[in-house]
Amino acid sequence: MRKIVTLLSMVAGVVAVMPVWAQEDKLLAQARSIATEIPPKLLAVLQDEMAKAGPEGAMGVCREKAPQMAKAASEKTGWHIRRVSLKNRNPNATPDAWETAVLQEFDQRQAAGEAPATLEKGEVVVGDGNVRTYRYIKALPTQTLCLSCHGNPEHLSQSFKAKLHELYPHDKATGYAPGDIRGAITLKRTL
Ligand code: HEC
Repeated sequence: MRKIVTLLSMVAGVVAVMPVWAQEDKLLAQARSIATEIPPKLLAVLQDEMAKAGPEGAMGVCREKAPQMAKAASEKTGWHIRRVSLKNRNPNATPDAWETAVLQEFDQRQAAGEAPATLEKGEVVVGDGNVRTYRYIKALPTQTLCLSCHGNPEHLSQSFKAKLHELYPHDKATGYAPGDIRGAITLKRTL
């Protein structure tokens, strides 16, 4: 009898846990799909604008279009979405403690040979007051196109640097090489 009770409670336990796993899988899939969809759209606009107006003219794309796209996607999906970096250009793109730890882990994994485009993490985080949040973050690798605005400062034109300094006096986002992790797109929602 005791065996049956134990067995029954084990089964009940498994059933009780299942929806949580299923929910997390669903959240991960949702967050991943949003985070995978936005960057190529931004890249297409950036490529267009770079061809027309060069790095100085295209600066507005990263400055205005990227936050606009993130805001529109946030409103549409209910996820809070933004971009962050350990060496941020926009002062508001400073990562919080969770994002900083994951970005440092991404840098280590990349140094150990993992492809930056595959680096992601999703998990439930329990914060103050037991508030549960689902958090997801996906690395944004530096591509050749990005170097015109995030590459070695010696290769950036004087006029571009002047404009950069005027708009972002505390910029840390230069000196990247192709394949480096430029930053990440990060999503969260309260559960
Ligand atoms: C035309 C210049 C330009 C190009 C090209 C460019 N960026 Fe940016 N990037 C900027 C500017 C300007 C900002 C600051 C935007 C803001 O004010 O929010 C920025 C911000 C970012 C941020 C947000 C974090 C931060 O540092 O503020 C990320 C991530 C980023 N860029 C990644 C990339 C990647 C990846 C590429 C290539 C696919 C790229 N950028 C190409 C100009 C550029």
